Amino acid sequence: MKITELQEPVLNFTTFSAGETVKYSSGYIDIDTSENRLHADSYDKLFDTALYALKIPTEKILSVVLALPYGWHDGNSEAVANRLSSDHRIQTKDTELDYTVCVQTERQGILALVNMAFGWQSGANEDILKNSILHDCGGMTTEHVQIINRRDTDFSDSDENLGQWRIARRLKEYLTERYHVRNVSEFDCLKYIENKEYHSQQTDSIDLTEFLHKENQALATDIVAAGRHHIRKYDETRRKYLTGGKAKDLFPYMSRLVKGLIISKDPLFDNAFGALKTAMNLTKNGAIPVGLDIGNQNTKAAALVNGTVQYVSFTSAISNRTTGRVYA
Ligand SMILES: Nc1ncnc2c1ncn2[C@@H]1O[C@H](COP(=O)(O)OP(=O)(O)OP(=O)(O)O)[C@@H](O)[C@H]1O
Ligand SMILES: [Mg+2]
Repeated sequence: MKITELQEPVLNFTTFSAGETVKYSSGYIDIDTSENRLHADSYDKLFDTALYALKIPTEKILSVVLALPYGWHDGNSEAVANRLSSDHRIQTKDTELDYTVCVQTERQGILALVNMAFGWQSGANEDILKNSILHDCGGMTTEHVQIINRRDTDFSDSDENLGQWRIARRLKEYLTERYHVRNVSEFDCLKYIENKEYHSQQTDSIDLTEFLHKENQALATDIVAAGRHHIRKYDETRRKYLTGGKAKDLFPYMSRLVKGLIISKDPLFDNAFGALKTAMNLTKNGAIPVGLDIGNQNTKAAALVNGTVQYVSFTSAISNRTTGRVYA
């Protein structure tokens, strides 16, 4: 794949809060949070929210590359692409946006490697594409991807339960068992993890530094063990990369276990940028290229609009059941 004739785009990040901004005629975007999983029906809504958030002018044709998890891609990609490839009308408080959308899907992780290997303008870094392994650790899953001679191997796979939510679940148990904290949700725990501290009106605050140190270490160990389990010649492969929203937390631990591990420059946006670069390469006839990574925790999206890469992230699925609104 070669991307040419593109101006070096300006990167323009907009923080975006889904629940606050987008209203559909039927009300707020609501997400099925049963088992805290992203429900397939939600894809449509997250998809439209991303198009809105990217500030793409109305009445355009959009060429979208959608990143799907490895474990999900093979059985579902066609159905997802078919369902989303249609005319989309997005109703917001102030405007109505109409797009004609054409969707192709690709596996997460491989797109992250595409982002690392290709600049916006320049050709490929062939070394990355020749023989590399990548771990993409996010909210719920870790993708392990092996690429040899520009193709991902059959050893590439994803593991559920290797991500931030495992730590959130364990924190919930820890707070309940050790401190008898009641009525704490996993969603709350994600916030405590971010603050490295539990606090409530009823109790003194609890420092979580040591707890998080142990959990991050355990997660790092399990990811490396899973990588070795899935991927042939794991230890012999020289180039290994780490990406995903959890990468920064895990790098200090994983780099002790994996010689020469490289952390990505864009851990949160690797798949979305890789999807955009793929879309830029595929797009013809003036359609606007869009890259989309609908993760279990965050939706990341990027589009090239008038020479500028607009990119956004917002929370995918962690919602408060009582209000049914998406949190950002
Ligand atoms: N600005 C940020 N906003 C949200 N999460 C962030 C941010 N920066 C880092 N993180 C971390 O990223 C994690 C989520 O990573 P990521 O967005 O890659 O997951 P995901 O792709 O939604 O999930 P999955 O890959 O399981 O589908 C969070 O749990 C948190 O640890
Ligand atoms: Mg992800």
